[in-house]
Amino acid sequence: MKSAKVVGVLIPIFIASTIYYINNKKPATHLVEFTAPFVFGRFTVPQNNPLTQESVLLGRRLFYDPLLSSNNQVSCATCHKQPLAFTDGLKTSVGVSGKPLAFNSMSLVNLMWGPKHFFWNGRSPSLEDQAIQPIEHLDEMSRNIEDLLVDLNNDDTYRDLFKRAFGEVSAQGIAKALANFQRMLISSNSRYDQYIRGELTLSSIEEQGRKLFMAHPDTKVILRGGNCIDCHSQFLTGGFSTMFDGFSNNGLDDDQALQAGLFTLTNNEAHRGLFKAPTLRNIAVTAPYMHDGRFTTLEDVLAHYNGGIKRSKTLSPLIIEADNIPKTQKNHISLNLNDDEIIAIIAFLHTLTDKEFLTNPAFSNPFTEENNNG
Ligand code: HEC
Ligand code: HEC
Repeated sequence: MKSAKVVGVLIPIFIASTIYYINNKKPATHLVEFTAPFVFGRFTVPQNNPLTQESVLLGRRLFYDPLLSSNNQVSCATCHKQPLAFTDGLKTSVGVSGKPLAFNSMSLVNLMWGPKHFFWNGRSPSLEDQAIQPIEHLDEMSRNIEDLLVDLNNDDTYRDLFKRAFGEVSAQGIAKALANFQRMLISSNSRYDQYIRGELTLSSIEEQGRKLFMAHPDTKVILRGGNCIDCHSQFLTGGFSTMFDGFSNNGLDDDQALQAGLFTLTNNEAHRGLFKAPTLRNIAVTAPYMHDGRFTTLEDVLAHYNGGIKRSKTLSPLIIEADNIPKTQKNHISLNLNDDEIIAIIAFLHTLTDKEFLTNPAFSNPFTEENNNG
C-alpha cells in the first residue's frame, strides 16, 4: 500500500481501505518466516499466493482431512505420510476406489526449489494446479468440489480459517492453502546437510559413496564413478527448476514396454519414456522405488544401474557412456561397479535421511493434536 505523506489524507485512505476490505473481504495476513540453506539456490512463490501463516495453517488441516474424499476416509496424508517422507510405502497408491493407481506416491519435500512440472510425467505446472487434481480424481479422492465447498462452509472452524486466510471459502483457496502448506515442508538437517555445513565428517564408507555418487567414470584417468550426479544433481531439493532438465530415461524399459512419460505433456516422441528424476532426500524411507514402484530396495535400484539397464530409443546417453571398465561388449550397458562400491553408494544415500523432518510436529496431523489437547 502507498504510504500517506500528508496527515490530511490519512482518514480517507483508512476509509477507502475499509471499504476495500468489505468489498473484497481481504483479511490482514502475516507472512511466514523460514530459513533455507544457501545451497538450495533461488526459489519462487506465485505472486498471487503469498506465503502467509494463515494459509499454511489452513493448508495443513486440509491436507490431513478425509473430508476431502467422497467416502470421508482418504486424505492427502493417506498417500503422503510424514514418517515416510510423505510417501505411502506402496508399490502404487490406492485411494477411494480401491483400484491401484498407475503411479508410486511421490515424496513431498523442498518443493519450492523443484521444477515447475509436478507429477512423474510433469503434467502439472504448479502446486496450486496440482492440489485440486487428486481431490477430483475418481480413483484418488473422487470429491465433487462444489459439494466440498458446501461442507467446508458449514464447518465453523473451516469458515473461520478460510476467512482469516482468504476472506471466504473457495476452490481457489483450497488449492492455495494446500500449495502453501506443502511449500513449508522444508528439510535441511540430514547428516549430509550437516556435513555440508562442516558440522561432521562422513564415515569412510559414506565418503567413498559420496565420491562415487558425484563422479562420472573416466577409464582414461582411472576415475571410478557411479554417475548419479549426472541426473540427480538437485538431489537435495525437488529437482531441477528449469524447463525439462531433470527428466530422463534411466533405462527401466525397452522400446516395447516404454511408457509415455513426459510425452504425455509435450507430445514429443523424443520425450517418450522420460520421467522426473526425483529428489533423493530421505530416499532410504521412501521405498518402493521408481514411478511404478518396481524396485523394493536400494540394492535393487543399484543392481538396475549396475547391469539391469534396458536399451530403448530415448535411453539417456549419460547412462550409455558411463562404464568403469573400458567398453568391451557394445550391447551390454553396465557401470561395472564392484560390490563394495555399491554398498558405499547405498551408505551415502542413507546420509540423506533427515529425522528432524520426518518427526517435525509442524508437519504432523493437526487433528491428533486437537484430540490430545482434549
Ligand atoms: C490415492 C493416493 C493419493 C492421494 C489421496 C493424494 N496423492 Fe499426491 N500423489 C500420489 C501419487 C501416486 C503421485 C504421483 C502421481 C503421478 O505422477 O501421476 C502423487 C503426486 C503428488 C505431487 C507431485 C509431487 C512432485 O514432486 O511432482 C504432489 C504435490 C501431491 N501429490 C500432493 C497431494 C495433495 C495436496 C493431495 C491432497 C489434496 C494428494 N497429493 C493426494 C498419490 C496420492
Ligand atoms: C540418466 C539419468 C540418471 C542417472 C545417471 C541416474 N539416475 Fe536415478 N533416476 C533417474 C530418473 C529419471 C529416475 C526416475 C525414473 C522413473 O521412475 O521412471 C530415477 C530414479 C532413481 C531412484 C528412485 C527414486 C524414487 O523416489 O523412487 C533412485 C533411488 C535413484 N534414481 C538413484 C540413483 C543412483 C544411486 C544413481 C547412480 C548410481 C542414479 N540414480 C543415476 C535418472 C538417473
